[in-house]
Amino acid sequence: MLFSQLLSPLIVLLALTGSGLCAWPNGPFSTSGRWILDGSGANITYAGANWPGAADTMIPEGLQYSSIENIVTKIKSLGMNVIRLTYAIEMIDDIYESGSDTLLETSFINALGESNGTAVYNTVLRQNPQFNNGTTRLEVFDAIAAECYKQQIWVHLDNHVSKAQWCCSEGDGNSWFGDTYFNISNWQRGLQYMATHGESWGNLMSMSLRNEPRSPGDNSTLVSESYNWGDWYTNVVTASGLINQANPDVLIFFSGLSYDTYITPIPTGESLGDNQTFNKSSFTYEDKIVLELHNYATSATSCSDLENTLYVDGFSSLNSSDPSVVNVLPMVLTEWGYSQDNTTYQGVYATCLQDYLPSLHAGWMIWVIAGSYYIRSGTQDYDETWGMSVQFNPGNGIANVPLGLLNHDWSGWRSPAAIENGIVPMVQATLG
Ligand SMILES: *[C@@H]1O[C@H](CO)[C@@H](O)[C@H](O)[C@H]1NC(C)=O
Ligand SMILES: *[C@@H]1O[C@H](CO)[C@@H](O)[C@H](O)[C@H]1NC(C)=O
Ligand SMILES: *[C@@H]1O[C@H](CO)[C@@H](O)[C@H](O)[C@H]1NC(C)=O
Ligand SMILES: *[C@@H]1O[C@H](CO)[C@@H](O)[C@H](O)[C@H]1NC(C)=O
Ligand SMILES: *[C@@H]1O[C@H](CO)[C@@H](O)[C@H](O)[C@H]1NC(C)=O
Ligand SMILES: *[C@@H]1O[C@H](CO)[C@@H](O)[C@H](O)[C@H]1NC(C)=O
Ligand SMILES: *[C@@H]1O[C@H](CO)[C@@H](O)[C@H](O)[C@H]1NC(C)=O
Ligand SMILES: *[C@@H]1O[C@H](CO)[C@@H](O)[C@H](O)[C@H]1NC(C)=O
Ligand SMILES: *[C@@H]1O[C@H](CO)[C@@H](O)[C@H](O)[C@H]1NC(C)=O
Repeated sequence: MLFSQLLSPLIVLLALTGSGLCAWPNGPFSTSGRWILDGSGANITYAGANWPGAADTMIPEGLQYSSIENIVTKIKSLGMNVIRLTYAIEMIDDIYESGSDTLLETSFINALGESNGTAVYNTVLRQNPQFNNGTTRLEVFDAIAAECYKQQIWVHLDNHVSKAQWCCSEGDGNSWFGDTYFNISNWQRGLQYMATHGESWGNLMSMSLRNEPRSPGDNSTLVSESYNWGDWYTNVVTASGLINQANPDVLIFFSGLSYDTYITPIPTGESLGDNQTFNKSSFTYEDKIVLELHNYATSATSCSDLENTLYVDGFSSLNSSDPSVVNVLPMVLTEWGYSQDNTTYQGVYATCLQDYLPSLHAGWMIWVIAGSYYIRSGTQDYDETWGMSVQFNPGNGIANVPLGLLNHDWSGWRSPAAIENGIVPMVQATLG
């Protein structure tokens, strides 16, 4: 009697925790060679979606159309295990400047004007009745993390921009360390703040240093003096050290140049200038470093060409048997995406990545869950589209295509065919 009374809760506990060694979220994560490992030492691979929260309002998108619970449920229904949640350093600057986090109502009015801001704010409260007139921006991030925790989805926090706005162009002032809005000390402070703040979430497993470093096209002096791998190195070493001090548990993602389309000198260990090279063993937190790349080569006509390009751009970091690879590190494709319509998922780009990434056990986050934005580039209630060259676009010219998995009002999939035949099988192949 006593024995069985003791035993059955133990069996339930073991059943709930799988291995019995650790329970979801199975943190903290670490790296070993090219693998990301969970707290029990098992391989994990990210398969997830981007959720933008770095634009003008500094509030994660979509909440005027849907509850956080419904959005997370949709992400979960795809089998995904992570979100890449983006934020702006300006959000943290505001906290330091005013001494407190900004209220939702104020944020919406600042970004959308008195009348539309108030209307959108009211619909956000209707959709998300747990919020009220005392809720702040960061509390929305907290609520998203909490819902993700409940549904067993990990959070990767991405510093997308400094000044909150649609990203990215070379002339937007957010492009490079020291650019018009990219104040280096504010950036470092913001990273530390979020590293510390996110610790209590429990499911914050990783953070980026900065989205898409790129040439600061608005300042030719800065281009010639600083847009190079040497300055990149100085800045990422300092900032990653600060994150690691603030929160030693999180993985730290390093992104490359030219909109994070290549990070070649890190795996190859070639010169970064001034005879400086990248040596992962010189970091005391070597087991926290992950590389990330972005790819939107959607007009690709050859899968082997696309694979070779990705390999040279940085995916070689996964290959310990390549003698030219000095720093073997995990690699995650944190942005990529394709038109959510009835045909593009069958094209070279989509099918190529659908096979290539799972074949490498490489993680990924697709751009983007959002069906629309509160405001983007000055237009309110902006339908999610992106100007890109597309395989199915006659003449391969630039077309505005919808990358959003969800439709405009976030109520359903924009293309059920792309979800069923493209996204879901890819998640399964990645995690299977
Ligand atoms: C991770 O997975 C790979 C391939 O399935 C395997 O070779 C490797 O031993 C695994 N590592 C661990 C720690 O399980
Ligand atoms: C305010 O919202 C309405 C639609 O509800 C829209 O027509 C109008 O353009 C918006 N105002 C601004 C300044 O964008
Ligand atoms: C916030 O709402 C409460 C009731 O829910 C109300 O008493 C209070 O006055 C409101 N505060 C502001 C600043 O509107
Ligand atoms: C960066 O911002 C800080 C305030 O946080 C300010 O003191 C400093 O001068 C700024 N640096 C530059 C280069 O503008
Ligand atoms: C360009 O960058 C340089 C170096 O950081 C800086 O000193 C200068 O003020 C910047 N110029 C402009 C116009 O922003
Ligand atoms: C880099 O190293 C080479 C060979 O050791 C040397 O000749 C060169 O002066 C060094 N360059 C710099 C910038 O230190
Ligand atoms: C890399 O750094 C480690 C630790 O500081 C050192 O032992 C090793 O010699 C370095 N490797 C190279 C190629 O410089
Ligand atoms: C890894 O590198 C080896 C040696 O260069 C090469 O033969 C192999 O094809 C590479 N593997 C992958 C998956 O790229
Ligand atoms: C996609 O296919 C479905 C089902 O055949 C159809 O209802 C829908 O209109 C198509 N969408 C587009 C954008 O062609």
